[in-house]
Amino acid sequence: MIPEPYLAAPTRYDATGMQYKRCGRSGVLLPEVSLGFWHNFGSVDPYERSREITRFAFDHGITHFDLANNYGPVYGSAEETMGRLMDDTFRAYRDELFIATKAGYDMWPGPYGNWGSRKSLMASLDQSLRRMHLDYVDLFYSHRYDPATPLEETLQALVDIVRQGKALYVGISRWPLEALQVAEAYLRQHDVPLLIYQGRLNLLDREPQQQGILDFCAEHGIGFISFSPLAQGLLTDRYLNGIPEDSRMSKGKFLKQEVLTPELLSYLRGLNAVAAERGETLAEMALSWILHQRGVTSVLVGASSTAQLEKNLRSVGAPAFDQEIPPFIPAASGKG
Ligand SMILES: NC(=O)c1ccc[n+]([C@@H]2O[C@H](COP(=O)([O-])OP(=O)(O)OC[C@H]3O[C@@H](n4cnc5c(N)ncnc54)[C@H](OP(=O)(O)O)[C@@H]3O)[C@@H](O)[C@H]2O)c1
Repeated sequence: MIPEPYLAAPTRYDATGMQYKRCGRSGVLLPEVSLGFWHNFGSVDPYERSREITRFAFDHGITHFDLANNYGPVYGSAEETMGRLMDDTFRAYRDELFIATKAGYDMWPGPYGNWGSRKSLMASLDQSLRRMHLDYVDLFYSHRYDPATPLEETLQALVDIVRQGKALYVGISRWPLEALQVAEAYLRQHDVPLLIYQGRLNLLDREPQQQGILDFCAEHGIGFISFSPLAQGLLTDRYLNGIPEDSRMSKGKFLKQEVLTPELLSYLRGLNAVAAERGETLAEMALSWILHQRGVTSVLVGASSTAQLEKNLRSVGAPAFDQEIPPFIPAASGKG
């Protein structure tokens, strides 16, 4: 069956309420809510559902899709899904989309399929472009800091990737502050300013704030995008009354049941009550809390249905917080 031609909603930029924020000191505006392809877009997932989610996203102003070489499962298959989507949905809208991919985690066997060498990053991006049926990506990331490769080698590879026209901008993800500082200076001196830092910031995990990464980004004109902003679903109503069969936690690989201690559950229920007082769901409040932190450009949500995404979009434009939301400090940590 030939899929019907897709026509994007004419209302996608005005009636949907999406807001766009400048990404650091750059010309790029990103939607406050962006969509990640880590889960739900692999070859194990029904293609029609992946397509429905991305069409819904684009129709509601989400112009930024975030991928990586090894998203799936199987590795590479989320990018293949993106390639199919380019062919049957998004080709006519390429210039309205901001597509990112990354390299740095294990991807193919042998010494060159992992980490941050020039060899690995260059080869990986070429593979990614082939899988996604793209000539270039808008954004290419070093997915993680590689303590064994000279930072200058990784950074020069990013510079050269931009010079080759294979990526328009570069970013780094999960680099420690000291390495971020080196990256910012090196890339600026080579006329390829660091566009964005991708880190995990959410109500349960405030490390990028505590470590000074957000402040550094804000002070140096670098955007910040928060991955796993819902803590993989913990910061939603998904687990408040048990573990649903179709949930990420029930699959047990990336979100373990052991995490959901009675102590955490009680903290989440407390947050849920605060959200209700604000007239919001827990997911909405969790996202809007991130969006109100200094230096944050966008939240990078995952979704296994359009209904989830629809709910998450309600966080855009939510009111600021007039009270501090205390962090979760487990009694066993001794920090309480
Ligand atoms: N740079 C890195 O190292 C790194 C690491 C991780 C992620 N990322 C990026 O960040 C993106 C998002 O990560 P994530 O998927 O962990 O994000 P998340 O938004 O924290 O979690 C998404 C999951 O939460 C559940 N969910 C979402 N909205 C919901 C709602 N309204 N109500 C109930 N449940 C809801 C769904 O799980 P169910 O499956 O249970 O429905 C969904 O798959 C990734 O796709 C990837 O692009 C980057």
